[in-house]
Amino acid sequence: MRRAVCPGSFDPITNGHLDIIVRASRLFDEVVVAVLINKSKANLFTVDERIDLIREAVRSHPAAPANVVVDSSHGLLVDFCRVRGIQSIVKGLRAVSDFDYELQMAQMNHSLAGVETLFMSTNPQYAFLSSSLVKEVARYGGEVSGLVPDVVLKGLRDRSGS
Ligand code: PNS
Repeated sequence: MRRAVCPGSFDPITNGHLDIIVRASRLFDEVVVAVLINKSKANLFTVDERIDLIREAVRSHPAAPANVVVDSSHGLLVDFCRVRGIQSIVKGLRAVSDFDYELQMAQMNHSLAGVETLFMSTNPQYAFLSSSLVKEVARYGGEVSGLVPDVVLKGLRDRSGS
């Protein structure tokens, strides 16, 4: 079985992430979306909330791919891959500015465990999008519909009390 992982913090998932996940689901038998837990980051949503938001976003997508599963991990991504029998990591690249760090991580993951990283170009519609920017705009009452799945929009509104 050809399995890939789409890893990230997903705090919260954006339409840019979702686009990559759905496109990856057409290329692999199974895509595991891995919410990686980074204790040094201050997060808006808990890990369980992030997992639920991703599951609902995938379920509500027009393609609703059935071969996407969602999980979380505390440790190294390559250990997660080893335990799950995952051969490939799929990452979206928005711009050249993403590339340096992504290349470093790809090379480190390959040298640690021989896991390959495949870069997918982000849909230009979402090239400027990041979870951090979405949170900032939403915090100050800006409009983020169209940038995040509806379930996330509701989560952000609940958080801001509007
Ligand atoms: O959404 P993010 O925060 O940009 O995702 C970064 C992430 C979670 C994919 C990366 O930090 C990661 O893989 N973390 C897991 C720990 C790990 O394996 N670190 C070594 C990377 S070479």
